[in-house]
Amino acid sequence: MNRIEGRVKVTGLATYAAEYPAEGVTYAYPVQSRIAKGRVKHVDAAPALELPGVLAVLSCEDPPSLAEDADPELALFRSRDIAYRGQIIAAVVADTYDNARAAADAVRVDYDPDDHDVTLRMDHPGLYKPDVVNPNYPTDTELGDVEAGLAEAATTVDVVYETPVMHNNPMEPHAALAYWDEDGRLMLYDTAQGSSTSRDMVAHTLGLPKDQVRVVARHVGGGFGSKGTTRPQAVLAALAAKAVGRPVKIALTRQQMFDVTGYRTPTIQRLRLGADGEGRLTALEHVAYEQTSTIAEFAEQTATVARVMYATPALRTRHRLVRLDVGTPSWMRAPGECPGMYALESAMDELAYAAGIDPVELRLRNEPETEPYSGLPFSSRDLVGCLREGARRFGWEQRDPAPGVRREGEWLIGTGVASSTYPARRRPSKALAKVLDGGDVLVQVGAADIGTGARTALTRIAAATLNVAPERVHVELGDSDLPDGPVAGGSMGTASWGSAVVRACEELVKDGKEGRADTTDEVAKEAELARHAFGAQFAEVRVSTVTGEVRVSRLLGVFAAGHIVDAKLARSQFIGGMTMGLGMALMEETLTDEEFGGFLHRDLAQYHVPVCADIRDVEAVWLDEQDDALNPMGSKGIGEIGIVGTAAAVGNAVFHATGHRVRELPITPAKVLGHTF
Ligand code: MOS
Repeated sequence: MNRIEGRVKVTGLATYAAEYPAEGVTYAYPVQSRIAKGRVKHVDAAPALELPGVLAVLSCEDPPSLAEDADPELALFRSRDIAYRGQIIAAVVADTYDNARAAADAVRVDYDPDDHDVTLRMDHPGLYKPDVVNPNYPTDTELGDVEAGLAEAATTVDVVYETPVMHNNPMEPHAALAYWDEDGRLMLYDTAQGSSTSRDMVAHTLGLPKDQVRVVARHVGGGFGSKGTTRPQAVLAALAAKAVGRPVKIALTRQQMFDVTGYRTPTIQRLRLGADGEGRLTALEHVAYEQTSTIAEFAEQTATVARVMYATPALRTRHRLVRLDVGTPSWMRAPGECPGMYALESAMDELAYAAGIDPVELRLRNEPETEPYSGLPFSSRDLVGCLREGARRFGWEQRDPAPGVRREGEWLIGTGVASSTYPARRRPSKALAKVLDGGDVLVQVGAADIGTGARTALTRIAAATLNVAPERVHVELGDSDLPDGPVAGGSMGTASWGSAVVRACEELVKDGKEGRADTTDEVAKEAELARHAFGAQFAEVRVSTVTGEVRVSRLLGVFAAGHIVDAKLARSQFIGGMTMGLGMALMEETLTDEEFGGFLHRDLAQYHVPVCADIRDVEAVWLDEQDDALNPMGSKGIGEIGIVGTAAAVGNAVFHATGHRVRELPITPAKVLGHTF
């Protein structure tokens, strides 16, 4: 199907959070900490309050009343302590955006600075073992004897891979419009990956009952995780609107987004692999070092992919975290799986070369019968099919394994492969379906369409259940006054909302007029199985021996992700993820400012993402899977698996092209030229 909202989006009629009209609207602009650690001694608002149009200055001089256990990133102005450079410490509200911005510059802040530490190191003395890693996995696992497995191996690999801080850069900035109506209910237009979930978080933060908050997010211009949890703009808009008694709009600048909307933690990962003479793993160890902030623990589940991927008699995974004077890391497309698979799939490639085995063949030889760590049966797993079909389509058979030998003028050419995986989960959701006058059907669910096509996919799911044309179904989403739905995250949206939509439509068929569903029980009764989507990615690169630039001339992904609900939407999701993975491989990096704290890269001139000219030939296909254990659609999530494995496939291709292994992302020209050809 084409996107239902495609026309309103391309004609500019789709309304985003900051675009809703409001009578008497005012504007808020944040004041951010200029130091990385210490205390706010004093905020002098007087110079700002003298400027034209200024209505209020909010700061810790007059702390608002917020929930004791509010998320520390949302507990604005409560504490004088500064946790990181760029933290919001005050805000100005004025009649225009420009007046608010000018006045924010005039707010005088006196600091009491402390020494800061913003650098993740593998030997950092502050490293500790968190109780669990996200969302609730064991931090460490141990199976068999890893040291014995390594000792008896015919081939071993012991390597360290590093990934940098990365930032989500959705086209729509983080923005909100808030006002309080006469009976004290907060109306919030927020850019959020979940209207029900954002309502819950905002209500909790402000200490309000849930029904006193309404969050509307009908269109969201991308999120990738950065809008999966409520961000400070929403709380700031609400507090400011209360302070001035008028509607308040706030739209963060791109630079502010880098400071306060989360980021992918940098990782340092050590992989130790051993294989016997046939290339079968004898041991696999995956240890991840990551950072969090001093105010909240975010423990990314980087090494958990090693518990899922390959058969091995000995398996050890570990996560270590250090609290630094930085913002709290957060979700970025396939948090955990994405950086984890970059390191694991790169190390598998190194093992293949060390053992003299083709990298596709190495993976086939290590296919497990059950999930390696848990021992659970897979609901379905077709990694083998993806590798074989990908190899066939890509022309892998003709590949000469020797690295660094294919040259066309200044260009060296190489190919690489990597596997992909992502969990296939769902969460409880509610939905309502009812017959409208005239016979069309209205479906309501508190889902979010963050640019994924959720509205369209749910329309198609409802139409298929009701056996009517999709034009007869009207899906309403993006409003917390609709039946509660979970966040658009973790590749769970379609599976979660779709399950509720199917059940509501089934009830509607029985009732003739209306059907309501709540899948809480259905989800709780799910059989214990290992549920994951799988894929294989193949990349061809051309590397300039003169400039060091890497061009990805071909990228192919083959995925096994259950039943695909809509081919056009799915292809866009897959190639979108792969494109983001290409950016991760070659461009994306936020440098930390070690001297002053915060980040040096804070805009799209410095933080590079792929553009059309970078993407030559990218294709995604899939193998149909029938998996009845998942949900009524038989679908697995596809929002994230596209990015998983891409960077490793590209990095492995760069090695094949040049004979030089870059183990730190991104693979920039400088790193490529560090090697002489
Ligand atoms: Mo995505 S990182 O699950 O929003």
